[in-house]
Amino acid sequence: MSDNYISTQPPTKIDITVAHEARVYDYWLGGKDNYPADRALGDAIAEHIPTIKTMARANRAFLTRAVRYLVGEAGITQFLDIGTGIPTAGNTHEVAQRLDPAARIVYVDKDPIVLAHARALMSSTSQGRTRFVHADLHDPRSILDHPALADTLDLTKPVAIMLVAIMMYFRDSDHPEEIIGTLLDAVPSGSHLVITHPTADFDAAAMAAVTAAAEASGIAFHPRSQADTATLFTGTTLVDPGLVPVATWRPELTDRPTPVTKADSAWYWAGIGHKP
Ligand SMILES: C[S@@+](CC[C@H](N)C(=O)[O-])C[C@H]1O[C@@H](n2cnc3c(N)ncnc32)[C@H](O)[C@@H]1O
Repeated sequence: MSDNYISTQPPTKIDITVAHEARVYDYWLGGKDNYPADRALGDAIAEHIPTIKTMARANRAFLTRAVRYLVGEAGITQFLDIGTGIPTAGNTHEVAQRLDPAARIVYVDKDPIVLAHARALMSSTSQGRTRFVHADLHDPRSILDHPALADTLDLTKPVAIMLVAIMMYFRDSDHPEEIIGTLLDAVPSGSHLVITHPTADFDAAAMAAVTAAAEASGIAFHPRSQADTATLFTGTTLVDPGLVPVATWRPELTDRPTPVTKADSAWYWAGIGHKP
């Protein structure tokens, strides 16, 4: 097997009896890598937000637009994609390497099932390079100091740090701004920070019920307001159009652009910050 797959963590058994973030999200996206516990939580959340599958897809579609912007307009060729999720259509390296075959990507996820799929699916162009690191963002140094990172990314050149639909798993007491600060300190000027974040700003009652359902399944889930999400971008300057509802972030960067008729159709804030 290629050296695309790298883990310094001890082998972890995949537990299908409890819901996992990656598999619930896979269920909403229409994937097959999920189990009854994941689907039960996914359905419980859908009772409070019937359009949750559409919202998950809107978040995923933003990821594609963000990578297109980063490669096509910001000239980024290196990506650190943390909280990768189970591979699905339009993974970061596929979008980036279509525009620049020499693009280099390090994927990071803590879920062993993502690790299992990474081995099979994270294939790079011959000009570029793709690696997968099994690690937990609660310890950002375990990512930054990982040999796969130095082997893949040149940290003297700009990097896009992708935190797409992951920071809601961090409580304020985890000090997410310090974790992101550690990542930003490791990359040079010209680097970018991509974040999407679920929010209660559009429907507080529904999001409170979602939080309760997730926590009852053992998953920490913390929606953040627009102001609190903005603080996660500390040390960067938001590029246009700023921190906006995910569906409205540069909707023209899709293959078949359609007008956004309902700006708050997906309850995520989305933004890209530029490190000056
Ligand atoms: C909702 S999925 C998002 C996947 C992808 N970024 C996207 O937006 O399409 C969140 C992913 O973050 C991963 N994750 C959650 N907490 C993490 C942590 N502390 N460290 C690394 N990965 C984490 C989960 O395992 C899951 O695969």
